[in-house]
Amino acid sequence: YTAEIDLNDLEKGTYPYYMLKEIDEQPAVMRKILQHYQGEQQQLEIDSAITETMLASDRIYIVACGTSYHAGWVGKQLLESLTHIPTEVHLSSEFGYNTPLLTENPFFIFLTQSGETADSRQVLVKVNELNHPTLTITNVAGSTLSREAQFTLLLHAGPEIAVASTKAYTAQIAVLAVLADVVGKAKGLAQNFDLVHELALVATGMETIIDEKERLEQLATEYLSVSRNAFYIGRGMDYYVAMEAALKLKEISYVQTEGFAAGELKHGTIALIEEGTPVMAIITEESIAGHTRGNVQEVKSRGAHSMIIAMEDVAEEEDQFILPQVHSLLTPLISVIPTQLLSYYTSLHRGNDVDKPRNLAKSVTVE
Ligand code: G6P
Repeated sequence: YTAEIDLNDLEKGTYPYYMLKEIDEQPAVMRKILQHYQGEQQQLEIDSAITETMLASDRIYIVACGTSYHAGWVGKQLLESLTHIPTEVHLSSEFGYNTPLLTENPFFIFLTQSGETADSRQVLVKVNELNHPTLTITNVAGSTLSREAQFTLLLHAGPEIAVASTKAYTAQIAVLAVLADVVGKAKGLAQNFDLVHELALVATGMETIIDEKERLEQLATEYLSVSRNAFYIGRGMDYYVAMEAALKLKEISYVQTEGFAAGELKHGTIALIEEGTPVMAIITEESIAGHTRGNVQEVKSRGAHSMIIAMEDVAEEEDQFILPQVHSLLTPLISVIPTQLLSYYTSLHRGNDVDKPRNLAKSVTVE
C-alpha cells in the first residue's frame, strides 16, 4: 500500500478542534469510499480473494475495541442481512477469556481505526496461529494489524486526530456495507437496494444535519450543560448507535452516560431516573417507533428531560431533532451525527479540551 496522506488533512485550518473538522468531513468520506470501491462500470468491487474466502466461511467473527466495537454491531446487522452468514461481535480484550466456540470455517474481521490496538492485535496473533482467514479493516495502510492479517480493506477516511473517533466510525460502517453488499451479490442473493445510490443519499443527509449545528449546540445547552449523568436509548440499530453515542458523550464531556436497549430500562435502570435526568431516544424505524416512544413516556413520567431524535418517516412534530430519511440498513450513518455534535458542544461548553480528553489515548498499544 502507498500512504495517501494529504498534508491539508493534518491542519485544523479555521476549526477550533479537530473533532469538529472530522465530523464535518464525513459526507466527503462517504463519497471517497464510494470512489475507492467502485470499478469501471460503477459497480462496487473488492479483492475477489476476500469474497471467495468469505463465501467459503460458515461464520464471521468481528473483533474490536471502543468505537470500532460499536461499528462492529452495525456490521453484524449488515453482514447477516446481505450475506446471510451468521456473524458474532467480540470485544478484543475479552476474547481470550470468553473465547467463542469457533465453527469449522470461521472468518475473522478486525476493525481498528489505528491498526495498532494491542488488545486487538493479541487476538489476531492467536487467530493466525490457528490458521484462520483474517481481514483487517483499518484507516492506516501499513499498520501492524494490516500487515499481520491476510487481507486489508482501507477506510479512506484521512487521518483522524481527535481522540474521540467520529469519521472512522461512519467509514467503518460504510466499508462493512460495501463488503456485505459485494459478498451478498457474489452469493447470488437478491438485493433490493442499490448501495451506491443509498450511500450517496447518506452523504447528502449527513450534510443536512451538519448544517443544523446551531440547533444541536442549542440542544446541548438545554439538555446537557449541568447534568452529571445521561442516557441514550434505542432498539435494534438505534440501540447500537445509543451505545456509541453514550461513549462519545462520556469520553469528552465526562457526563456519565449509558447507552441502553430501550426495552431493558424497566428491568432496573429506570430506578436511576430523577427529575431532570436527560434521556435521548433514537428512533429510526417504523417497527420500533411505538415501543421506544412508550419507553420515553415511562421515563418522562418519572421526571426525565427527554429528547427524541427521529427519522423523517417516523418523526412527530414535537420531536426535538429530525433526521433525513435513509435506507433502514444505513440509519446509523445518519443517526450518529447529531449525537457526535451534542457531545462536541457539551464538551466545548464545559471548557474541556475536546480533542485530548483526560486519561485517554488515541491509540492504545498496551493490553
Ligand atoms: C482508543 C480510542 C478509541 C478507539 C479505541 C479502538 O481507546 O480512544 O477512540 O475507539 O482505542 O481503537 P482502534 O484504533 O482499534 O479503532
